[in-house]
Amino acid sequence: MEFRDVVTRRRMVRNYSADPVDPAVVERMLSNALHSPSAGFSQGWAFLVLDEPADVERFWHATTPSEQTGEPDEWLRGMRTAPVVIVPMSCKAAYLARYAEPDKGWTDRDEARWPVPYWHIDTGMASLLILQTAVDEGLGACFFGVPPELIGTFRAAFDVPEEYTPIGAITVGHRAPDRKSSSLRRGRRSLDEVVHRGSW
Ligand SMILES: Cc1cc2nc3c(=O)[nH]c(=O)nc-3n(C[C@H](O)[C@H](O)[C@H](O)COP(=O)(O)O)c2cc1C
Repeated sequence: MEFRDVVTRRRMVRNYSADPVDPAVVERMLSNALHSPSAGFSQGWAFLVLDEPADVERFWHATTPSEQTGEPDEWLRGMRTAPVVIVPMSCKAAYLARYAEPDKGWTDRDEARWPVPYWHIDTGMASLLILQTAVDEGLGACFFGVPPELIGTFRAAFDVPEEYTPIGAITVGHRAPDRKSSSLRRGRRSLDEVVHRGSW
């Protein structure tokens, strides 16, 4: 697929068919994610891949707020049809350690040196490559948030070390018809609205 098509055809998919996902395609998504840029080439990320039904079920059990554990809503019903869930995680400690190395020299490991949390940014960039690879492979995917109060429960369910933080999660599968997100009614902002040339 042409790169421009990968970019413009990507949209979040929130309902999937029962067709299995080729494990080789998942490997390609992950390999592409590793080509993402990272500050200081820290690569302080990790990806939890869940492609067994019992593991996917455990993911939803761990990350669904208790008030929703009864009859799942339409969003959850659709998302739970995804045969694969990938959880991208960032590791702040890896960045603080990398930038304390001699070529960077931030031995105080002071977080105030970081204008924005590059550990989350880099893992976000890697996540976009996963989403784009899904499109390139004719699949659908959706990036979504993990409720903050359930991150501990998620870590415990999958033995994730404390220093790794899921920045969200990605469902992957073959697209099935779904209802468009109501957020899309906002419309895509135009270049004129967001681009400032020369000065603001
Ligand atoms: C950081 C981030 C968090 C998001 N969280 C959710 C979420 O929790 N649930 C969801 O259904 N979609 C989520 N989305 C998807 C957005 O709703 C979606 O990207 C946006 O509406 C634009 O639609 P499109 O990606 O299909 O073009 C998230 C996207 C991003 C980048």
